[in-house]
Amino acid sequence: MNILVVTGSISEQSNNRRIARWFDKHYGERVDLKHLPLVLVPMFNQDIEENPPAEVQDMRRLFKEADGVVMIAPEYNHSIPGVLKNLLDWTSRVEPVLKDKPVFVLGGSTGRFGTLRGQIHLTQILNSPGIGAKLFGRQVQVDLVDQKFTPEGDCTDERMERSITRAMEAFLASING
Ligand SMILES: Cc1cc2nc3c(=O)[nH]c(=O)nc-3n(C[C@H](O)[C@H](O)[C@H](O)COP(=O)(O)O)c2cc1C
Repeated sequence: MNILVVTGSISEQSNNRRIARWFDKHYGERVDLKHLPLVLVPMFNQDIEENPPAEVQDMRRLFKEADGVVMIAPEYNHSIPGVLKNLLDWTSRVEPVLKDKPVFVLGGSTGRFGTLRGQIHLTQILNSPGIGAKLFGRQVQVDLVDQKFTPEGDCTDERMERSITRAMEAFLASING
């Protein structure tokens, strides 16, 4: 099974990348995990959407090849990071590569409320007519992410690890149908 991991932060020190590394460690051998290189995606511009740069074509291919997407999104100013919105705008036009694609949404914040507010925006965007993703019913908000995940991608909080594992297992089972 092909699973595409989209991490909505381009920071080298990203705490959400810690969560992405956790997926590598725990699912890297069971499924074919690929990561979308968000940093390479250019700014959306309608003038070039029919004939976009190679990076956009590569991005579209990664989505098309994926059986499911794990979207790990930080919360920036009670919403999603601009780089992630930019990617989603690309996916909504010309080739609707997220249409009916199973997407599991989670995310980590250093605050105590996790990414709840950002995820409200993210799910609204994923449900927009141009995108029309098939949202998985369970989402996970990781609060205090810098305390619960090490830079190497280990989760030090048993309850959180259980919660992500259960959700991911159910997500994979839902794809297998
Ligand atoms: C521009 C910016 C805005 C932020 N806004 C929020 C916020 O609204 N809610 C929150 O819980 N944390 C917020 N934070 C703190 C983030 O949770 C924290 O920096 C987290 O590590 C971001 O994820 P990343 O490291 O993967 O980029 C913000 C951080 C930045 C840089």
